[in-house]
Amino acid sequence: MDARPNDLAAFWMPFTANRQFKATPRLLVAAEGMHYTSHDGRQVLDGTAGLWCVNAGHAHPKIVEAIQHQAKQLDFAPTFQMGHPLAFELANLATSISPQALNRIFYTNSGSEAVDTALKMALAYHRARGEGSRTRLIGRARGYHGVGFGGISVGGIVGNRKAFGTMLGGVDHLPHTHAPEHQAFTRGQPEWGAHLADELEKLVQLHDASTIAAVIVEPLAGSTGVLVPPKGYLEKLRAICSKHGILLIFDEVISGFGRLGTAFAADAFNVTPDLMTVAKGISNAAVPMGAVYTTQAVHDTIVDAGPEGAIEFAHGYTYSGHPLACAAALATIRVYREEGMFENAARMAKPLEDAMHALKGLPNVIDVRNFGLVGGVELAPRDGKVGARAYDVFVRCYEAGVLTRQTGDTIAVSPPLIINEKQIEQLVGTLADAIKKAA
Ligand SMILES: Cc1ncc(COP(=O)(O)O)c(C=O)c1O
Repeated sequence: MDARPNDLAAFWMPFTANRQFKATPRLLVAAEGMHYTSHDGRQVLDGTAGLWCVNAGHAHPKIVEAIQHQAKQLDFAPTFQMGHPLAFELANLATSISPQALNRIFYTNSGSEAVDTALKMALAYHRARGEGSRTRLIGRARGYHGVGFGGISVGGIVGNRKAFGTMLGGVDHLPHTHAPEHQAFTRGQPEWGAHLADELEKLVQLHDASTIAAVIVEPLAGSTGVLVPPKGYLEKLRAICSKHGILLIFDEVISGFGRLGTAFAADAFNVTPDLMTVAKGISNAAVPMGAVYTTQAVHDTIVDAGPEGAIEFAHGYTYSGHPLACAAALATIRVYREEGMFENAARMAKPLEDAMHALKGLPNVIDVRNFGLVGGVELAPRDGKVGARAYDVFVRCYEAGVLTRQTGDTIAVSPPLIINEKQIEQLVGTLADAIKKAA
């Protein structure tokens, strides 16, 4: 057999410019704490927690040990009409750190699956209440909710939608909240933009509340380039949803598990949704896992509507509550607690904010945005080529030993929650050099 270990052709890479990457590959071969090791033996500071997910830092010994132990103890057990103790133990621990009202949890394997699951729960909830006409789902322009057909339907990133046909019917979108003419270089939440939530009232007037099941938004939008919610915006969305009996779903796949210096964005912004999708940081990405948190009311409405002895919610994944994922998540949440990682994220938020806002004035920097342990610097596009300048900056950072994330013409940083001030200096200092060189 010809294994061809150095041939990069067979792996069709996700969300990657395959031809460009394979001409100049960047491979990571090991990781520990705040650093990756690259294939050419360099230490690379992880400015993005992998892909917004390795919140506790890489290869935490307690998480590694928990996974190793579990692989030997119970490699797999079904959760369809069967169970295993860790799935219940994790549900109790995971709901002990969520907003009090969100005390039920359903497991998935990814954020995309969590989103599609939450949308289905919203539909099933209204049907169980005898309001089966509520089938409409409302997303938001520039929203990213993964890549399932539900997620791209409510999502608002054109590039992720245009090749894939008509998607789900009956979906509408709110406008996004980004308005640089009013908000550029705001530290934290912009003052301008709460009124954009009133657009939901207009959608209610257009479609009638009796047709609308749910509204889904990222409380802080990450993948579209770090958009921080304007002050009062989420509160308004919450009030309008409650007024019209519409479920509010927060997609906290990025913002959950300490990213904003609190357990969830719902805590940071003091707005509680009816459902909350999570993934990434739940298991520190050491084993894939996602989940949907719901209120007891949503859970009970669906479960109590089913006839006794019948499956109430015809949905789930072979790997929902996989023992290895549960072991990883249990260890991860304990480590977050025991080592005060959310608190460290809160402490490091200000140094990161100061460092990021010091980028103002560098060539082509048109905006800086931040909240918690998330920062974004937006660059003016290079002569009509969207993303080219930011890609250049991203590559220069990587070559200089720092991993960042490019989305459009924004460079996003979202380091592990264990970062210290010196590493913030290195991260943003390297970014500043790269921005100057890419001018
Ligand atoms: C807000 C949000 N929702 C959903 C997803 C999809 O998660 P996954 O890639 O695990 O399917 C992401 C991924 O970045 C995300 O940021």
